[in-house]
Amino acid sequence: MKILVTGGAGFIGSAVVRHLIANTRHSVVNLDALTYAANLDSLKAVAKHERYAFEQADIRDSAAIRSILDKHQPDAIMHLAAESHVDRSIDGPAEFIDTNITGTYRLLEEALDYWRALTGEKKACFRFHHVSTDEVFGSLGPNDPAFTENTPYRPRSPYSASKAASDHLALAWHHTYGLPVVLSNCSNNYGPFQFPEKLIPLMIVRALAGQPLPVYGKGENVRDWLFVDDHASALISILEKGRLGESYLVGGKSEKRNIDVVETLCRLMDELVPNSPYKPHARLISYVADRPGHDHRYAIDATKLQNELGWQPSVSFEQGLRNTVVWYLDNRGWWEPLVEKHKATQRAGTGEKR
Ligand SMILES: NC(=O)c1ccc[n+]([C@@H]2O[C@H](COP(=O)([O-])OP(=O)(O)OC[C@H]3O[C@@H](n4cnc5c(N)ncnc54)[C@H](O)[C@@H]3O)[C@@H](O)[C@H]2O)c1
Repeated sequence: MKILVTGGAGFIGSAVVRHLIANTRHSVVNLDALTYAANLDSLKAVAKHERYAFEQADIRDSAAIRSILDKHQPDAIMHLAAESHVDRSIDGPAEFIDTNITGTYRLLEEALDYWRALTGEKKACFRFHHVSTDEVFGSLGPNDPAFTENTPYRPRSPYSASKAASDHLALAWHHTYGLPVVLSNCSNNYGPFQFPEKLIPLMIVRALAGQPLPVYGKGENVRDWLFVDDHASALISILEKGRLGESYLVGGKSEKRNIDVVETLCRLMDELVPNSPYKPHARLISYVADRPGHDHRYAIDATKLQNELGWQPSVSFEQGLRNTVVWYLDNRGWWEPLVEKHKATQRAGTGEKR
C-alpha cells in the first residue's frame, strides 16, 4: 500500500513512519503542517528512502489536501495530525477546535471525494484510519472496570472533547457516506522522540538540569502507558486488518499512578547518571496545584484487539521506561534545541501528555 500519514513528523506519527519503512513494504507520504510539535529530525533514518515522501500541508487546507491526494494516489490514509497537549488545550482551546474538529472534517471531505472517484480494487481496498485517544471516555473511579469499545463517550477537557468530536465525524462519514473508516483509541504513549512538554521527557530533561519536577495534585491520577513502537505496530495491524466501521482500543496493560512513574524515573536517573549532583533525584519532586478538571483514571481493556488481530504489547513499562531514559541521555542533540526554542512558550505544568 501507499499510505498517506497525517502528522507524520510528530511523536507517534514519526514512529509509525519509521516502522512502516523499516518493517513493511508499504510506501509512505507524510503530510504534516510542521507545527511546534513536529520535528523532521525524528525522520532522519527514512528521509532519503525511496518509499518515503514528505508534503508540508495543513489538514484545514482543502485545496492542498486535494492536490496531494491527486498527486500521490494513496491506498489508505492514517490520520494522526492533531493538537495533542491537554495543558495547551486548557490555555488555548481555539487551535484544538480548529485543527482537531475542522481539520478532520476537511480531511474527511477530501478523502470522500477522492475515494468516490476510485474504481475497482483500489476503491474496494481503500481505508481511512482515524487515530484517537482513550481520553474521549472521560474519567474512571479507582474500582471501575476498564474502558472497552462500548464505553460511552464522556470527554471532559477541551482536548478530549475535540478528539471525541473528530471520532464522531469519522464514524459519521462511514455510516452516512460509506467512507471505509476504522478507528482506534489508545492510552498514554511514551518513548524516544517525544516533545519535552509531555510528562516523561519533561521529567527526564528537568531532572538532568536539577530543576523541580512538578507533579499535579497528589500525583494519584492513574494512566495506562504504552511504548510508542507498540502503538505503531497496533496501528498498522488495525489499518491492514481492522473491520470497517469498528473501533479498537489499544493499551499497554500498565496502569500507573503519576507519582509512581516519576519516582521510577528518578530511580532510573540515579542509576544511569551516577555522577549527577542532583542525586537522589526524587528530592526534586514538587507537588503543584492540580490541573482543572483533571481526569482521575484511564484504563484500557484491549481484548478485542488481541482476539481479533492478535496484537499484544511487546515492551514492559519497566523496560520501555529504561530504554526511553537511555535514549534521552544519548540524544541530547535532538531535544536540547527544542527546549531552548520553546522555553518561552512552555507552561509550568507537569507536561502530562497530549
Ligand atoms: N501522545 C499520546 O499519548 C497519544 C495517545 C493516544 C492518541 N494520540 C493521538 O495520536 C495522534 C498523534 O499524537 P502525538 O502525540 O504524536 O502528537 P504530536 O503533537 O507529537 O504530533 C502532532 C503532529 O501533527 C501535526 N499537525 C498539527 N496540526 C496540523 C495540521 N493542522 N495540519 C497538518 N499537520 C498538523 C504537527 O505538526 C505534529 O507533527 C493525535 O491525533 C493524538 O490525539 C496520542
